[in-house]
Amino acid sequence: MSTTATLNAAAAAPRRMTVPAFRARKRAEPLVMLTAYTARMAELLDPHCDALLVGDSLAQTIYGLPSTVPVTLDMMIAHGAAVVRGARQALVVVDMPFGSYEEGPEQAFRSAARVLKETGASAVKLEGGQAMAPAIAYLSARGIPVMAHIGLTPQAVNILGGYGARGRGDAEYARIAADAAAVADAGAFAVVIEGVVEPLALAITEAIACPTIGIGASAGCDGQVLVVDDMLGMFDRTARFVKRYDTLSARIQDAARDYAADVRARRFPEAEHLYG
Ligand code: KIV
Repeated sequence: MSTTATLNAAAAAPRRMTVPAFRARKRAEPLVMLTAYTARMAELLDPHCDALLVGDSLAQTIYGLPSTVPVTLDMMIAHGAAVVRGARQALVVVDMPFGSYEEGPEQAFRSAARVLKETGASAVKLEGGQAMAPAIAYLSARGIPVMAHIGLTPQAVNILGGYGARGRGDAEYARIAADAAAVADAGAFAVVIEGVVEPLALAITEAIACPTIGIGASAGCDGQVLVVDDMLGMFDRTARFVKRYDTLSARIQDAARDYAADVRARRFPEAEHLYG
């Protein structure tokens, strides 16, 4: 294909959401984000979302793992690249998995650079507050946009002891507020706030300059994110903060049952499905 043809194709494509445009939506129209892990799902969600998050929640949704701790950088890169192939206009953000960034800014840069180079995504997300501020500043100063993730941080499940809501006591409330200030000051272009008491989410949203994206936080955040499988009702049990917009698990089981019955009764395939 000639360079001209490539440029013409690019001109015809819808403009992809950029990090500055996403950041500029603070206190404006709420930002819509969902997780996605595959190209086809990204294609379906893309017209409705400002951002698609390739979350390390793929541990549970795709791989049946008990937590996000075992997720590797290679897994995130494979799914990140698939989502970028499926999404045309949403900002694609890829989660940095546990163990790929916590050693320090240089390890974080090496891992995040791989993510951006090998997936074509525009930004990475990493968990942690004040302790991660130096890494966020280092990445942001070197061309890697970072979405921070504070409050309930699932990669820290072994320290937290579970997935309960955070910020109930005064000390924890103050620590999470300080985390938000630290990651925002370090240059995060947005901050996911997960599983915190609502007054804390509202106070953070009021205090920091970049958008907050809530999950189990508050409708007053600058945007919302949900795990797509939770929102579609793929699992029987979900957290209190999930709103189900469908019950796909039941519909998939119904379809599989109908198919199995047709095969067993030799009702499928029918003439229209056969080559003469
Ligand atoms: O991994 C994920 O899906 C996430 C969202 C829950 C924010 O981090």
